[in-house]
Amino acid sequence: MEKVCLIGAGSTKYGKLEDSIIDIALQASVDAIESAGIEPKEIQAGYISNVFGIADKQVHLGPVIMSNLGIPEVPSLSIESACGSGSVSFREAYANVAAGFYDAVLATGVEKVTHTGTEWTTTYFSYCSDFFYEGGAGASFPGLFASMARAYLAEFKATEEDLAMVAVKNHDNGLLNPKAHLRKKITIDDVMKSAVVASPLKLYDCCPFSDGASAVIICSEKFAKAHTKNYVEVIGSGRGGSPAALQGRDHITTIPSTVIAAQAAYKMAGITAKDIDFAEVHDCFTIAELVDTEDLGFFEKGKAAQAVREGRTKLNADISINPSGGLKSKGHPIGATGIGQVVEVFDQLTGKAGERTVKDAKIGLTHNFGATGASCAVHIFKSV
Ligand SMILES: CC(C)(COP(=O)(O)OP(=O)(O)OC[C@H]1O[C@@H](n2cnc3c(N)ncnc32)[C@H](O)[C@@H]1OP(=O)(O)O)[C@@H](O)C(=O)NCCC(=O)NCCS
Repeated sequence: MEKVCLIGAGSTKYGKLEDSIIDIALQASVDAIESAGIEPKEIQAGYISNVFGIADKQVHLGPVIMSNLGIPEVPSLSIESACGSGSVSFREAYANVAAGFYDAVLATGVEKVTHTGTEWTTTYFSYCSDFFYEGGAGASFPGLFASMARAYLAEFKATEEDLAMVAVKNHDNGLLNPKAHLRKKITIDDVMKSAVVASPLKLYDCCPFSDGASAVIICSEKFAKAHTKNYVEVIGSGRGGSPAALQGRDHITTIPSTVIAAQAAYKMAGITAKDIDFAEVHDCFTIAELVDTEDLGFFEKGKAAQAVREGRTKLNADISINPSGGLKSKGHPIGATGIGQVVEVFDQLTGKAGERTVKDAKIGLTHNFGATGASCAVHIFKSV
């Protein structure tokens, strides 16, 4: 296999955006191409992650993006894997470069939904669940993650305040990120007093609906060395699956796909969870961050709440979790999220993360899943 590297990354702001889905996808793509210092014609394939292009009247995004970049002849692939679309698309781009099919590819993730309103978006997002058992029976994603939260709080004697601390930390990090959707300082009291969405989850336990686009340039080591000295190496890539509906799982305080994907990524990288300096994890709801950080091996099962209470996951503490602000504060434009995590890792490892820089970081991890973790991909990156 070829060594695979990142040489460029770009992102729009996340939030409620006015521009069309194509315009924001192009803004992020051009940003990534310029940051890589390459010409569009050097790109040999495009990987486009998106879930609800239909909401902005544009599907088959790949050829439209490639045409607007002035490279209509370049093949592209549109990928949907619910909220995990970005990481699954990144994995396909990674695999094709690793296999030697291409020297340099563009991976762009994009979502544009906020104009449709909460009712529409909640309904459409529920189509990403196992609709027969979940969405069709009235379960929204806040409801499904609330079930996981109830089980976790009962099994591990954690509290709603522990969940709130995750939100407070991620909002603190998001305040340092100019591209974050919710840039707002919050307190535990604010979280506890915010409106109940699906008990025990309250407004500030939830990620928002966001628009946004993110893009990265993925290439062979040879291509990277020919263009720049400031690049990042992809050293681990893992994918996993879980029973699509929560009811099909033995336990709902762990996500099997995360465990499988993480083990594969650590094995490929030849490292363990202890070697990770920072991680961008899928905190669509505060409970998810607790479950993720245990499934990724950062903490023993049932111990993540205590770690958060002790401040061990804050920026520049033991392991910085979600330095970007995570889905909770940075936002969650579902097709873009997994690529946005890679943008954060690229910025961190190439000295572009400004005030939220994780000091002396050498190894970063991204973790992104679809629905309640039915699909998942984990990637590990190293500075050179
Ligand atoms: C939590 C949720 C129900 C709130 O929706 P809503 O009540 O319609 O919220 P609105 O968009 O009307 O916003 C109302 C206010 O709350 C704020 N807000 C909205 N969502 C927020 C969130 N998740 N966290 C913090 N503040 C939020 C808005 O900024 C707005 O504040 P303002 O009045 O000061 O401008 C919705 O964001 C949600 O369902 N989130 C989860 C998305 C999801 O499931 N994603 C997939 C994960 S698997």
